[in-house]
Amino acid sequence: MKKIVVLISGEGSNLQAVIDACRDGKIPSRIAAVFSNRADAYGLQRAAMAELPAHALSPGDYPDRAAFDRALVERIDEHRPDAVVLAGYMRILSAEFVGHYAGRLLNIHPSLLPRYPGLHTHRQVLANGDPEHGTSVHFVTEELDGGPVILQAKVPVFTGDDEAELVARVKTQEHAIYPLAIRWLLQNRLELRDGGAWLDGQRLPPAGYAAD
Ligand code: GRF
Repeated sequence: MKKIVVLISGEGSNLQAVIDACRDGKIPSRIAAVFSNRADAYGLQRAAMAELPAHALSPGDYPDRAAFDRALVERIDEHRPDAVVLAGYMRILSAEFVGHYAGRLLNIHPSLLPRYPGLHTHRQVLANGDPEHGTSVHFVTEELDGGPVILQAKVPVFTGDDEAELVARVKTQEHAIYPLAIRWLLQNRLELRDGGAWLDGQRLPPAGYAAD
C-alpha cells in the first residue's frame, strides 16, 4: 500500500480529513508518519489518537534552515513516502527539500491562487471587500505558494463576516478537496510536468481542475 507523510504546524483539521479519507478508503493509502515543527501542535494529538507515528522536530535545535530541512528529509525518507502532504505546515521550505520531493509534494493554501500568496489571506480578503474567497491545492515548487494549481474551491464572503467565520467556511471546503487531490496523486493520475499540473494526461488550466 502506498504511503503518505503529513507535515503540520497547528490545529491539524486538514490532517484529520486525510486520516478520515484513508480510513474510509477514499485515499488508497496509509499515513506512515506525521511531523510537526511545533511540539504543541494539536495535530500531533490527532495523529496519536489515530495511532499514527507523530514526531515534533524543533528548528531551534538546528543551526539553519538547510540543516533542519536535511534532518527532516532524513526522517521522512525512513518511511519511503509516495506523497508528502503539507497540511498547515507554517515553515518556508529549502530549495533542496522542494527539489527532493518534486512531483509528490502538495500544499493547500487558503486563497484563490494566484491571489493572496503568503500569510493572513482571510484578513486581506475582508479588508479588500472581495465578494469571494477560497482555497487552492497545488504542487509545491520553489516559489512560495506559486506551484501549479490542481484544484480550487470557492466560498462566498458575506457582509459582516469576521475572520473566524471565513476561516471555518474555507476549511470546510479544504477538507473536501484536499483528500480528492491526494487521491489523484496516489492513483498516479496527477503529474507535475513542464511547470504545470497534469491530470489523466491533460494539462490543467491555471485555476486547476473544473475551474469555472
Ligand atoms: C489551512 O487553512 C490551510 O489552507 C493552511 O493552513 C491551514 C491549516 O489548518 N495552509 P489546519 O491546521 O489543517 O486546521
